[in-house]
Amino acid sequence: MSDGMRELLLCPPDYYGIEYEINPWMSVARGAQAAVAQRQWKQLHATLSELHCEVHLIPPQPRLPDMVFTANAGLTVGRKFIPSNFRHKERAGEQLFFSNWMEERGYEVHWLPDNLYFEGEGDALFGGDALFCGYKFRSDIQSHRALADMLGCLAISVELVDPRFYHLDTCFCPLPDGGAFWFPSAFDEYGQRAIREHVTDLIDVLPEESMHFSCNAVIIERDIVLPEGAPKLVTQLQDRGYRCHELPMSEFIKAGGACKCLTMFMPQREKC
Ligand code: ARG
Repeated sequence: MSDGMRELLLCPPDYYGIEYEINPWMSVARGAQAAVAQRQWKQLHATLSELHCEVHLIPPQPRLPDMVFTANAGLTVGRKFIPSNFRHKERAGEQLFFSNWMEERGYEVHWLPDNLYFEGEGDALFGGDALFCGYKFRSDIQSHRALADMLGCLAISVELVDPRFYHLDTCFCPLPDGGAFWFPSAFDEYGQRAIREHVTDLIDVLPEESMHFSCNAVIIERDIVLPEGAPKLVTQLQDRGYRCHELPMSEFIKAGGACKCLTMFMPQREKC
């Protein structure tokens, strides 16, 4: 990271589509509209580029339609990259493309044991002094200990209980001032308590706004890029001094993803 410029990884949606169903949002019968998806993705790319970010693109691969969701490539801290071990065989083919690409750019690639599922930044977000890690639907809780050891960071495991919010980044979004916005009922009681203990100033997102993937936002300092459909949340964020950029994301929500799922930070943090 030079002069505070954030580096991000995106993957163009050339081969994007709904070709299998691995979460409750996906319907092969309904599909997604390719031309609209292209437009929405380009708007995300343009918005992030205008926010003083350096956006890197990994070449998309045929037959890997979910490769657009680069948050699931892995987790980057400083120059270390920990690739995902995908739970579903449909996405496992992405692993080598992402790890090779990161290695070619000089990142140190550290693999988790391959019997531990882990889906990258989608399930691992820094908030305050801790790395919050979601588990159950995709990542295994045992992967968090291994992750914490590799990175030397404090990992706090939180269980996800609603299959529609199967990755942490679908229901939890830490803010740079130590706060966060989240959808509390996506977590069990223990997880809710852990988050409340570690995060000051939590904004609860309404159920109907959560359903628009409102927590799936990319935060670039005071700018927040999020899917449209959450007027209440946007007002609360603006009251705290954030600028919100609301984008149409319908075609990606059909795969169970939106702005944040389509973005990986390089790195998410310089160090733990
Ligand atoms: N269809 C993809 C999957 O189910 C969507 C991934 C969304 N990514 C995320 N970070 N929440 O794996």
